Amino acid sequence: MSLWSEISKACQLLSQGDVVALPTETVYGLAGNVFSEAAIKKIFAVKDRPSFDPLIVHISSFEEVSKLAQKWGQAEAVLAKAFWPGPLTIVTPKTQQVNPLITAGLESVGIRMPAHPVFRRILRELKTPLAAPSANKFGRTSPTAATHVKSEFSNSVFVVDGGDCQVGIESTVVAVHETAQSVEVKILRPGMIAHSHLKRALEDAHLKKLIRVSNVEASPLAPGHTDTHYQPAIPLIIAHRTPSQETATQIEKKFSFPSLSRYSELNLNPDPRLAARDLYSEMRRLSTSGIKWMFVRKSNDRSGEVWESIWNRLDRAASMRID
Ligand code: TXA
Ligand code: MG
Repeated sequence: MSLWSEISKACQLLSQGDVVALPTETVYGLAGNVFSEAAIKKIFAVKDRPSFDPLIVHISSFEEVSKLAQKWGQAEAVLAKAFWPGPLTIVTPKTQQVNPLITAGLESVGIRMPAHPVFRRILRELKTPLAAPSANKFGRTSPTAATHVKSEFSNSVFVVDGGDCQVGIESTVVAVHETAQSVEVKILRPGMIAHSHLKRALEDAHLKKLIRVSNVEASPLAPGHTDTHYQPAIPLIIAHRTPSQETATQIEKKFSFPSLSRYSELNLNPDPRLAARDLYSEMRRLSTSGIKWMFVRKSNDRSGEVWESIWNRLDRAASMRID
């Protein structure tokens, strides 16, 4: 099927209240019309997602914000202008129109304008925002290629193949608290748009307010942030160096693997942008390569704010940490 036929089939399914998997620049999303309760319920059912984990709503134009957000402050407008379309989700008080099923009963909604041309095309065609979590079973690694989605759902979900995702990890999620004197941005989920990028964008806008950007890990504001998440099908171990034979034997015992089981290193590009792009597809490739476990090296050169976002995912994906 050509890409154009896939896009038109996706539009047809979405307008009937069905769900489809679509490419975004971050990861593939499992999309449904925000105004179809049937579609929203189906997203949760297909993913086995608990109802306490809110969905992100995707839009294609700035005008759509007013349908979803009850108020949109100066700082939110600055961040949206600086980073949309792109991998930034802004959590803000919601309007009555947003179904509480989408927000897991919260009074706020996460909004993002994705950059992928296929997703944008579909949003424009349908003229409605689409709710879309990552297109994986709950707690598992997000898909960054159409084939990942197909294997995740055993071909039961229609997928538009828009190629490999270029960002590779999920969007940065922020909540903004603004007063007459100050702007406070809380990073609920780190991503490729990092602390310094957010701060710089706000400073460059000369709001004449005190600006604070902070990381809030495992916040009750981000209820989807369970400790284990993004898990590959085989154990991932974070190690400070390549495991010795003795360490490998201990790992085999812990996971009840036969002795001398095969394992591999999860290699990461020295450039964190490329490391993020390839992270999930490498995790998937190794998971299906016949080895029993994989390790990733937490070395000093893999540090800095962009690497922090990658380690945020690896820390949750890992089953074990060793020296
Ligand atoms: O890059 C992405 O964000 C991808 C693509 C498909 O857009 N989507 C994605 O969705 O990663 P999901 O559902 O896998 O993760 C969304 C996370 C939730 O787990 C939750 O922590 C946070 O965003 N979130 C969404 N709405 C929220 C809200 N109202 N308050 C706090 N956190 C929220
Ligand atoms: Mg997810």
